[in-house]
Amino acid sequence: MMDYSNTDNLSRIAQDCWHRLNKAASDRRHAFHQLTIANSDAVGQPHQRIMVLREADGDARRLRFHTDARAAKVDMVGDGAPVSVLAYDMPAKIQIRMSGKAHIETDTPNVDKAWEEATLYARRCYLADPAPGSFTDMPISGLPTELEGVEPTVEEAEPGRTNFALLYITIDRMEWLYLAHTGHRRALFDYETDKGWDGRWMVP
Ligand SMILES: Cc1cc2nc3c(=O)[nH]c(=O)nc-3n(C[C@H](O)[C@H](O)[C@H](O)COP(=O)(O)O)c2cc1C
Repeated sequence: MMDYSNTDNLSRIAQDCWHRLNKAASDRRHAFHQLTIANSDAVGQPHQRIMVLREADGDARRLRFHTDARAAKVDMVGDGAPVSVLAYDMPAKIQIRMSGKAHIETDTPNVDKAWEEATLYARRCYLADPAPGSFTDMPISGLPTELEGVEPTVEEAEPGRTNFALLYITIDRMEWLYLAHTGHRRALFDYETDKGWDGRWMVP
């Protein structure tokens, strides 16, 4: 983690953003473990939802999330739509607003690997029938009744594999805001192929 007594180094700040995101992917208690993902639909209506960050690859500038292939967001962002990602680390007093392009994978080796690594409880999330977002007459989980509150076996979870999808977001802009009573700090980073993260200071 960077030393916040020194917030005047743009390249260290960009690095620190990725360091925090990377740490958050494997730390359930990290404030960046749950991020808000936003997109606009075909008529310009905004949509937001919280998603669990599964991987942050700073070299590829890429975030990975898991979702159900039948979810509304998959139709909206599956074609490389622009999305924005919002993160706030309250203890560190850091907000990061990111934007980039999303894509969905359902049948690549990356999906197989993520499925293998998922716990049985996590795999159970993809067994909903009818699909997530379906209207029902009663409040239901959609899970097979015998698996409610129960860890499925590998075989019981397996039908969920076809519903399991990865949402990747490649980030091309990050806006960092650091709150301090001595004066906030704000910086904007755009990714340039030849230069990497190109930062500029902004008035907070
Ligand atoms: C703490 C929390 C974590 C969540 N994590 C995920 C997630 O990792 N993937 C996901 O698809 N939905 C997740 N959700 C549910 C979404 O916020 C959203 O309600 C759901 O995916 C439907 O969104 P959609 O209609 O835009 O597809 C989470 C919700 C909460 C409250």
